[in-house]
Amino acid sequence: MSPIIHHHISSLREVLQSCRGQQHTKEKGVQRIALVPTMGNLHDGHLELVKIAKQHADVVVVSIFVNPTQFGVGEDFDSYPRTLDEDVAKLATVGTDYVFAPSIEEMYPVLPPPTSVLAGEIANQLCGQSRPGHFDGVGIVVSKLFNIVQPDIAVFGQKDYQQLAIIKQLVRDLSYPIEIIGAPIVRSDDGLALSSRNQYLSTSERNTAPILHQALQDLAEKLTNSRISQQAFETLLADARKRISDAGFVIDYLEVKTEDLDAMTNDSIIFNAENKNLVILVAAWLGRARLLDNQLVAIN
Ligand code: PAF
Repeated sequence: MSPIIHHHISSLREVLQSCRGQQHTKEKGVQRIALVPTMGNLHDGHLELVKIAKQHADVVVVSIFVNPTQFGVGEDFDSYPRTLDEDVAKLATVGTDYVFAPSIEEMYPVLPPPTSVLAGEIANQLCGQSRPGHFDGVGIVVSKLFNIVQPDIAVFGQKDYQQLAIIKQLVRDLSYPIEIIGAPIVRSDDGLALSSRNQYLSTSERNTAPILHQALQDLAEKLTNSRISQQAFETLLADARKRISDAGFVIDYLEVKTEDLDAMTNDSIIFNAENKNLVILVAAWLGRARLLDNQLVAIN
């Protein structure tokens, strides 16, 4: 069945209020509501988020909003693909209940909004270095969506690893009673992480793109041995960067961090036996597309 589309906060709130009052069909309890925030132009990765949401809740709301406050000057806000009809058709195949697709004016009566949600130190590294203010924009729109939908759970993709960490921080610091679920990265058969921005790739760039994931996997395999020296660690990182650059990417960053993104600088960690759970994170340009990927590493 096709999801019901709401363009206005008031009508969505009204319908969700009545859902909340209804009894759960199986157990005696109130219905749980899940939110899957998106910017539309949906692919199979987004549909997986909806499937996960459905496992945890009775009612699934997908928001589709290209949020102006998270785009910097010269970024792709104007050209970001807006494909609402196709998105709704895809969402119908996975049983979405409601789509919330507000206008900019509905979300931001005043733009830029004078009230801010600051993501803090964690946002000053990685993507935050090349996209200043990006995570503050994500923070305000996600806060607004949380306040509008008041979900019990919200599902975000692990491909945007730093974003997920920042949203968990937001929920903790602003006391939202919302469980955040991180969904595994969905990949094409050749390993490329699915992303709406993959469609900016030309045919030859698309053939090159899986090298990013291969480089991360190979690096992760070599890093699992805790006995390698700091110097060997730096060399492995430099080799991975060279492999990616030689393939034609322009690297924004390739760093290794502790899993919780503890270090606030853009430098890699000191490789030692204390840091057992690591994550390799990369952002790299291939033509017009800025691709993100990451890989967890458990050190033996
Ligand atoms: O990950 C995204 O698509 C966006 O950053 C989000 C979370 C929907 C906020 O606009």
